[in-house]
Amino acid sequence: MKLGNRLQLGVHVAPSSVLFGPHPTNLGDGRALSDRHTNYYRRRAAGGAGIIVVEEASVHPSDWPYERAPLASDCGPGWASIAEACSEFETLVLAGLGHSGGQGSSAYSQLPLWAPSHVPEVNSREVPKSMEPHEIEELLDCFVRSSVAAVAAGCHGVEINIGQSSLLRQFLSGLTNHRSDGAADGLALVTALLGRVRIAIPDSLLALRLCADELAPWAGIVPERGAEIAAALAEHADLITVVRGSIYSMTATRPDCHEPAGFNRSLAAHVAAAVRAVYPETRIALQGSVVDVAMAEEVLAAGEVDCVEMTRALIADASLVAKATAGEVDRVRPCLLCNQTCMVRDARNPIISCVVDPTTGFELLESEPGRSQDLVGLRVVVVGAGPGGMEAARCCALAGATVQLHESSSRVGGALASASVAAGRGRLNALVSWLEQELNDVGVEVLTSSNLVAADEVLRNADVIIVATGSRNGSPDYVVQAGAAVMWAREALEGANINGPVCIWDPIGGPIGISVAETIRSQGVDVTLVTPDNIAGNELSRSGDLAPANTRLQQVGAKILRRATLVERTHDTVVVTDRFSGASSEIEATTLIDAGHRLAEDSLFHELTSGEPGGSAAIVLRVGDAVAPRTAAEAMIEARRVVAAARGQIPVSDGVPMIGTVH
Ligand SMILES: Cc1cc2nc3c(=O)[nH]c(=O)nc-3n(C[C@H](O)[C@H](O)[C@H](O)COP(=O)(O)O)c2cc1C
Ligand code: SF4
Repeated sequence: MKLGNRLQLGVHVAPSSVLFGPHPTNLGDGRALSDRHTNYYRRRAAGGAGIIVVEEASVHPSDWPYERAPLASDCGPGWASIAEACSEFETLVLAGLGHSGGQGSSAYSQLPLWAPSHVPEVNSREVPKSMEPHEIEELLDCFVRSSVAAVAAGCHGVEINIGQSSLLRQFLSGLTNHRSDGAADGLALVTALLGRVRIAIPDSLLALRLCADELAPWAGIVPERGAEIAAALAEHADLITVVRGSIYSMTATRPDCHEPAGFNRSLAAHVAAAVRAVYPETRIALQGSVVDVAMAEEVLAAGEVDCVEMTRALIADASLVAKATAGEVDRVRPCLLCNQTCMVRDARNPIISCVVDPTTGFELLESEPGRSQDLVGLRVVVVGAGPGGMEAARCCALAGATVQLHESSSRVGGALASASVAAGRGRLNALVSWLEQELNDVGVEVLTSSNLVAADEVLRNADVIIVATGSRNGSPDYVVQAGAAVMWAREALEGANINGPVCIWDPIGGPIGISVAETIRSQGVDVTLVTPDNIAGNELSRSGDLAPANTRLQQVGAKILRRATLVERTHDTVVVTDRFSGASSEIEATTLIDAGHRLAEDSLFHELTSGEPGGSAAIVLRVGDAVAPRTAAEAMIEARRVVAAARGQIPVSDGVPMIGTVH
């Protein structure tokens, strides 16, 4: 396995060629790094990460881009703790350093944003302050001081952000640097800075995260220029991680599954060629949705780059490198490229986690399920083989129980398998396939087309019953004329007969309505998506797919009716009203697909727990959509807790395990 190869970096050696890149986690304690950070990174080091770049710390207090964004002057103890925790595994720890400049936020600092010029920020629309020469000097001093502090704390070096959301890139770019003074030459400025950092930390690593394509060719850095910049800066750099994106393309740096995996390959190879021609010692890392071991092996074997950044892959499976090098590639829990819970900068301000591994970010509170004797001798029956039921069955089997998993349909995967049929969403099924294989390995008996009722013998004989029966269709809150048909999004994806024209009612604004619209429209059927919001897929801003989704809908020719409320379904139309004016209109629709909220399929749970003669003497738990239809993330979280719940170690409310496992 190439990715397990040790990598020489300056005078240091990384134990593997896999880099865990910097990303916001919200694990901080104020603006300091916390014990949760230490445990988060330690777990990845133990799993074989070669290089860890700690969450970026702002080098100057003028930069406070999100509430718990680390500040370098508060990070000394945290860096020391992380470096110490990872030293056991020889993982190289670099402190991520940066300043967001005009791409930051003044909401927390209550200070004007710093930027090369008064260019309004595209997303926040805020006009930054054009920096004075003395402020530029102060900024450079802070980069140097922070680098010295990180190394003094025990880090092997630093990674300086000249990529997305960075003031240094803003100095390099014609998009954002309109100055006429000495700082007009951004490359000279950054080169001088790196020279100073190099002198200040001579024996430590100096890595760069460098944008080589701002995706804004009219004034931004284009790949040719990106390669020139990389070659010029390589004199001072031990490692350059090549990224793309700028103010107009925030989400292009870390897109979801709609972008092909490894999208930066040709860009990174281009930069590598330019850098190697002048500084062959400088290593190049490929970034950009590298989530599969096979792709990492391919680029390393071809020598395109020297190492691979696999950040989301290691968020999803902290032990990816260890598993791959032990010949267990198939056991690597796959990243779905869903961006659902690993992106934390949204209005909910969540702590980082992962749909496929809820332990991520919660290492101090919950441990990954491992083999134990906790449920030895118990017969567990899980009803429903969606992700919740499959994960619950896996956890119980690992804990030594004898487990049967019953599924009423002819295949496993539940709603997630259905969702994966939609355009561009095939990767969702990777979780189902992984769970299926793991269930096989741990000896769970899976019975499909098995429709259990409360009185069944198999349930009567169980010690623990886990109800994971998922969801059922919701109930329309609009008038449905007698005899008029309503189809649900899941049915549409499960092969129901669809005749156009189609109207899709999307009161949620998440991925469901959008993906069904894309799927049906790409089959040539006339589609109108009706949304109550001002934009289709309103909630997709969280995963970064909002603008791309609207572009895709436009490209396939789907119509969008915004700010509309569905009031009535007739035989061949839908009646909608404008939410602002109240004006009513009618759309022709042979098929109406409701992509709205679903209801918990909880009848079996209530029968089993009714206390009536048909009730069960077993411990009855429930997880996932059978509790309340949400997403795969919540189903996986609840499933992880069933072992502790069955042992009475954690509270259970109405069948739902309430908190994490006890250490
Ligand atoms: C059409 C459709 C699309 C869905 N898309 C997603 C999705 O993109 N991500 C996700 O986490 N859950 C999605 N869900 C919800 C999950 O599939 C559901 O919460 C999960 O299967 C619950 O697990 P359980 O069936 O074991 O309870 C979707 C559901 C439907 C019906
Ligand atoms: S939340 Fe989704 S995209 Fe993020 S690491 Fe987990 S599986 Fe990958």
